[in-house]
Amino acid sequence: MIQVMEYEATADLYKDAAQMVVETLAARPEAVLGLATGATQVPLYRELVELYGAGRVSFRHATCVNLDEYVGLAPSDPNSYHTYMRNHFYDHVDVDPRRCLLPEGDATDLTAAAARYQRLLERRRDIQFLGIGRNGHIGFNEPNDELILGTHVTGLNPVTVADSRQYFHGSQAVPHQAVTMGVGDIFFSERIVLLAIGEDKADAIARALSGRVSTRHPASLLQLHPQAIFLVDQEAAAKLSADRKRVPARSA
Ligand code: PGA
Repeated sequence: MIQVMEYEATADLYKDAAQMVVETLAARPEAVLGLATGATQVPLYRELVELYGAGRVSFRHATCVNLDEYVGLAPSDPNSYHTYMRNHFYDHVDVDPRRCLLPEGDATDLTAAAARYQRLLERRRDIQFLGIGRNGHIGFNEPNDELILGTHVTGLNPVTVADSRQYFHGSQAVPHQAVTMGVGDIFFSERIVLLAIGEDKADAIARALSGRVSTRHPASLLQLHPQAIFLVDQEAAAKLSADRKRVPARSA
């Protein structure tokens, strides 16, 4: 059963999330970290960069793997997730750039690129961070009659395209396709930590924890993972009954 921690202060949520990374790397410096993008993850990277600056964590031996990348965007593109990861995280810590992996969205043969990425995922992750779309997507696994287990090229749901628009710099249109880890890839992690902030996510969170599983709400599949935890603020938790969530002890 997914553990749900509801935070009054988002600063505490991100401190606890960052602490999970610190503890993972303390136990196993060569850990594989599954990382996500999106607005929700930005304060987590800020926290990790701060902890690195304070000498509390090192990423030197870690491997980082990302969930997804937009089709057609080169790593240097300002709107690519490659750029997002460099700007928010990789350029500010001691991780080896050769062990920072993201799908190749600009490959000529995207199917081959997805298969290449899949092979890079053969080491089980120690921890996998996720956001959640308003439509319940995880990575870019959008609601559908069937979901794909492995890394693949996917069309993006109109809700996702609309929600991404606000983060796109310049006049570039949001791509309608992406390369994403599949739900099987996402599950290939010891632990899964989903972060959700704000009332826009309340319905998606409630449905993910409804006790039913549907490919029409991909996050609901996480109920089948043995070690999934949701860290949510009060707004994102607003549609959960009181007995479905726990308030964490004040983080250190
Ligand atoms: P967000 O995206 O953090 O920008 O809300 C989350 C997601 O779509 O997975």
